[in-house]
Amino acid sequence: MISSDLESNRVEELDELLDLIKPKILDFVQKSDPNSSNYEADSLGRYNSPSFLKDQFADELKLEGIKGDTEKLNEFLDKVLKYSVNTWNPGFLDKLYASNNPIGVISDIILSVLNTNSHVFTVSPVLSVLENFVGKKYAKLFFKNDTCGGLTFSGGSWSNITSLQIARSLKFPKTKEFGNEGYKFAVYTSVHCHYSVVKAAQLLGLGSANVFKVEVNKNGTMKYEELPKIIEKSIEEGFTPLYINATAGTTVYGSYDNFTEISKIAKKFDIWFHIDGSWGGNVIFSSKHSVKLEGSELSDSITVNPHKMLGVPTTCSFLLIPNVKDFQRAMSLSAPYLFHGREIDEFENFDLADGTMGCGRRADSFKFYLAWYYYGSKGFEERVDHAFNIVEYFIDKITKIDGFQLVNESKCLQVCFFYKPKDYKGDFTTITRYISRELHKDGKYLVDFSPNTDGDNQEFFRVVFNSPILTDKIIDDLITSIIVTGEQYAKSLD
Ligand SMILES: Cc1ncc(COP(=O)(O)O)c(C=O)c1O
Repeated sequence: MISSDLESNRVEELDELLDLIKPKILDFVQKSDPNSSNYEADSLGRYNSPSFLKDQFADELKLEGIKGDTEKLNEFLDKVLKYSVNTWNPGFLDKLYASNNPIGVISDIILSVLNTNSHVFTVSPVLSVLENFVGKKYAKLFFKNDTCGGLTFSGGSWSNITSLQIARSLKFPKTKEFGNEGYKFAVYTSVHCHYSVVKAAQLLGLGSANVFKVEVNKNGTMKYEELPKIIEKSIEEGFTPLYINATAGTTVYGSYDNFTEISKIAKKFDIWFHIDGSWGGNVIFSSKHSVKLEGSELSDSITVNPHKMLGVPTTCSFLLIPNVKDFQRAMSLSAPYLFHGREIDEFENFDLADGTMGCGRRADSFKFYLAWYYYGSKGFEERVDHAFNIVEYFIDKITKIDGFQLVNESKCLQVCFFYKPKDYKGDFTTITRYISRELHKDGKYLVDFSPNTDGDNQEFFRVVFNSPILTDKIIDDLITSIIVTGEQYAKSLD
C-alpha cells in the first residue's frame, strides 16, 4: 500500500485547529469592539520597526515542521495577531478599506473550505452561477439594462488594467494578434487618477508617456473642458485616442468627475470611456448619495470594489460592463484543454476565466454575494449613509476649532485637512508626520497623510471614515488626541 501520514487524520486535526483558533479570533475582535466589556481602545497595534519585527519572527522555516506541537503553533499565531494591525479597531482610519465583519469571516472560511477555482464551471458550479448573478445585479444598478454583467479581478488596479485591455481589444481587434503595431495609442485621465491607470498603459505597451493627464479644479475634479483640446492636439501629434478614465471617488480627495460631460467627449471622439469607481462607486447603494454617479450609465466600463466602502473582505473588486459578452469577445482564446464550450447559455459563458486574462481565480464574488444576501441593499445603504454622517460630524467639529484647515470640500468618506497647533512655527509636513506616528505608537488611531501636489507639496492628513462602528464619541476622542499630541510637540520645541 502506498500511503502518507501527512494528512491521515484530517477531521480530528481540523477540529483541534478550529478549537485552538476560535478563542483567539474572538479575543482579537472583542478587544477592538467598543460594545464589548473587553474593549481596549489601544488594541489597534502599536508601531514597530521592520527590524524589530524581523527579530520577533526570525526565520523558523526548517526541515522539520511544528505539526503536533500545539504550544509552538499557539505562540506563533499569538505573535502574528499581537504585532499585526487590528483593523477591527474603529481607530483604523488609514486606508480606504475598514475592518472585516462576522459574515465576511464566514465567507472566507467557506471559500477556503471549498478551495475551488472559479475558472471553469465544472469545478465551481455554484460559485460560478453566483458570480454571474451578483455581477449582473451589480452592473444593473449602474447600466440599467438586461445585457450587462461583471466579473471579479484581484483588486481595483487589476479591474482598471483589464478595462484598458478590453477597450483595446474591442476597439482595435487586430491588436489581439499584432499588439500595438502601427498605433500610438493615447489614454486620457486626470492628474488625480489612481496610479493603476498609468500602470495599465505601461503593462499594455503604450507607455506612461502616452497617458495625457488633465489638470483638476480646486475640488479635484477633472477640468473636462480642457479634454477636447488635449485630444485634438494628441491626434495632430499622431496618437490614436483609445481610452478616457474618469474617477468616482479619487484616492486622495474623494472627488467625482463629471461623467455626463466626459461621456459626450468620449462619444464625439469615439473613445472608450471607463470609470474608476474603486473607491466611490458604492454610493450607488445610497439613495441620498448616488446622485454623485450621475452619468455613470453612459460609460463603457466601471470598476467598483466591495472590499473598500462595503466592508467585504479583501480583495473583492468587480469590473462591470454594459454587455457581459464583451468579456469573452475581448479575451477568449481557444484553449480547449480547459474551456470545453459546454457551459454557455443564450447570454453567458459560465467558464468565467475565458473572459479574463488569467486562469485560476479565487471566487471573490462569493464574499460580496453573501454580504449582499445577509445585509440586503438596505444594509449597504445604512453602512454608506452612516459613514457619510460621521464625515459630516467630523467636518462640522474641526471647522470650529483653531488650527484645523480643510484642504477641500469632502465628497466621499475621507477628509483631507491640515492641522497646526497653537504657537507651532514649523511646517505642516513635520507636524502631520509626527502626529500620525505618535497616534500609531499609542495603538489607538492609524491615520494617513498625503502631499499637497496641487500646491507646495506640504503634507496633510487624509483620514478615512468607513467603519460602521464609528461613533461621534470616538470622533471627539480622535480630535482631542490630534490636538493634545500636536500641542505637546509644539511645547517640546520651546
Ligand atoms: C481610485 C482608486 N482606484 C484604484 C485603486 C486600486 O485598488 P486596489 O488597491 O484594490 O488595487 C484605488 C486604491 O486605493 C483607488 O483609490
